[in-house]
Amino acid sequence: MKLKAFSTFASLLLILLLAQCTSDKASQQQFSPDEEKVYLDKGKAIAAATFTTLSGQLTAALEKEGVAGAVRYCNLAAMPLLDSLSKANNATIRRTSGKPRNPLDAPTEWEAELLSAFQLEASKGEQPMPRLKLLDEKKVAFAAPIMLQPLCTKCHGAVGTDIAEGDYAVIKELYPQDQAVGYKPGELRGMWSITFER
Ligand code: HEC
Repeated sequence: MKLKAFSTFASLLLILLLAQCTSDKASQQQFSPDEEKVYLDKGKAIAAATFTTLSGQLTAALEKEGVAGAVRYCNLAAMPLLDSLSKANNATIRRTSGKPRNPLDAPTEWEAELLSAFQLEASKGEQPMPRLKLLDEKKVAFAAPIMLQPLCTKCHGAVGTDIAEGDYAVIKELYPQDQAVGYKPGELRGMWSITFER
């Protein structure tokens, strides 16, 4: 009798422990290693292709029209370009930042969480690494850091030194709430936020 009670107790304990174990696993690992690789590769490929397109257009506009002209070009073209690349990739491609130029690029709740994780890594001198988040049953989010390069300081560096006063006047005219200045090369400028179906 005693033995039976003990074995019932023991098997209950075992079931409890196993349940605990699997639920821990589920919350820690949202993706299988295979899935993780597929989604990270997919996000990286979309981010790289989008960056190539955006920076190609930006360089061409800078050469042709100078900084102020390129700012006007970005103002008109950046969002439509992201929209059409989103459609082409069956994804939602955004760029977000804690100090946005375009208020539409302000982070959502989950984007702000990942941005602060990147910021923490960058503040410790580490290179922030791309990561994934499961938004719901069917939606995967890919996030990757956007680091500032020397070219970017023309529009995101220090006003008055990197950015000519006249050029900044154009930026302020188009983006009265601009916060995206004062960056140095190598700093975290923002984050790719790319979401797609699981
Ligand atoms: C010619 C000026 C110019 C240059 C050079 C430039 N940007 Fe921008 N950047 C802008 C403008 C204008 C916007 C707002 C675009 C919009 O309205 O969607 C912007 C927006 C962004 C955003 C989206 C978040 C936000 O602040 O709204 C990121 C991220 C960004 N730039 C990163 C970079 C990086 C990285 C570089 C260098 C590779 C760079 N930019 C070079 C003008 C520039």
